[in-house]
Amino acid sequence: MPLNNDAILAALSKVTDPATGQDLVSLNFVRDLKVSSGTITLDLVINTPVSPRKLVVADNARDVLRKLPGVERVDLHLKVEIPKPGGVEGKQSVPGVANIVAVSSGKGGVGKSTVAVNLAVALAKFGGRVGLLDTDVYGPNVPIMVGLSQEPIVKSQRLLPLEAYGVKVMSLGFLNPGDRPVVWRGPMLHTAVRQFLYDVEWGELDYLGVDMPPGTGDAQLSLAQLVPVQGAVLVTTPQAVALGDVRKAYRMFEQVHVPILGIVENMSYFVCPNCSEKHEIFGSRGGEELAITFGSRLLGRIPFSIDIREGGDAGLPIVAGAPESPHSLAFLEIADNVASQVGLLAMTGSRLPIMDMSDSRGDRFVV
Ligand SMILES: Nc1ncnc2c1ncn2[C@@H]1O[C@H](COP(=O)(O)OP(=O)(O)O)[C@@H](O)[C@H]1O
Ligand SMILES: [Mg+2]
Repeated sequence: MPLNNDAILAALSKVTDPATGQDLVSLNFVRDLKVSSGTITLDLVINTPVSPRKLVVADNARDVLRKLPGVERVDLHLKVEIPKPGGVEGKQSVPGVANIVAVSSGKGGVGKSTVAVNLAVALAKFGGRVGLLDTDVYGPNVPIMVGLSQEPIVKSQRLLPLEAYGVKVMSLGFLNPGDRPVVWRGPMLHTAVRQFLYDVEWGELDYLGVDMPPGTGDAQLSLAQLVPVQGAVLVTTPQAVALGDVRKAYRMFEQVHVPILGIVENMSYFVCPNCSEKHEIFGSRGGEELAITFGSRLLGRIPFSIDIREGGDAGLPIVAGAPESPHSLAFLEIADNVASQVGLLAMTGSRLPIMDMSDSRGDRFVV
């Protein structure tokens, strides 16, 4: 085959991005392709920040091209173009914010905030412009998890977000520090969240993560309706109760037409620090089964780890505190998967897979 664009595209269509399982040509990553006297020039335009895995993808593309007969040189430039879907139908977009990603679960204590914080820090590490909005009225834990306690400054009637680990952070907890319990009624919560979306000086963001309150009651549903979300990440632990809860959360998002980007299985297993044996404390593969049931995908599994818990308590998320640890690498991979799903969704415009609502597992929720 002579060295021409067709031969080059055929070679690149064999290189896949592990985050989506799709090849570089189908993903429309290959642009400005030129070939002249043995030199190939092209831009590889990815739709996510530059994760380590995307660097490997770029290296794989270079390797494949170098092996083509007649190639002397490959000039591959890796570029980033994060989609700006420009809001969600019927909802007011947040100026400057490209993609809002909700992190949710059916119930509390499954590690939703831990996942939201570490994903945000990971995306910022990859070079993304990232914000994190904590709307968990029942337990706004994000301030502690990122080590922030000061009150945000108000400037020209707009709240300035605080910043930690390269992430702009706003939390209901900043406005109500200490142990005072807050009794938020639905409309108050609604107003507070509206203000946090539209009256905070977020600036230009590629991603705004929203840590949602647990549960699938009225408050959560109204939040899910209010926030112009591109997609939702559902966090679960593998045991049956948490899975039942996440099913409800899945349906809640379906009800408000928010696509599910995938499922994160947290506290999946425990690696014994003494014997290195892997124990699946809460059962195995629950998240994966759930993903299959819903036609969704498992974005990754996070082990149960003392380091993750201690990082959260100390305000030093593990992705920042121990970036080379296997647990951090698990978070980095999930962050790349989430961003890639957002990119894929922007490209294909695909919506939630249709679910069979008639099943009789007794976990329907009432709106
Ligand atoms: N993978 C994990 N390993 C160990 N502890 C974890 C893990 N994920 C979360 N935790 C801990 O579990 C508790 C609940 O997590 P949190 O993120 O606050 O859950 P949620 O936001 O769903 O209520 C916290 O103390 C947190 O540090
Ligand atoms: Mg939480």
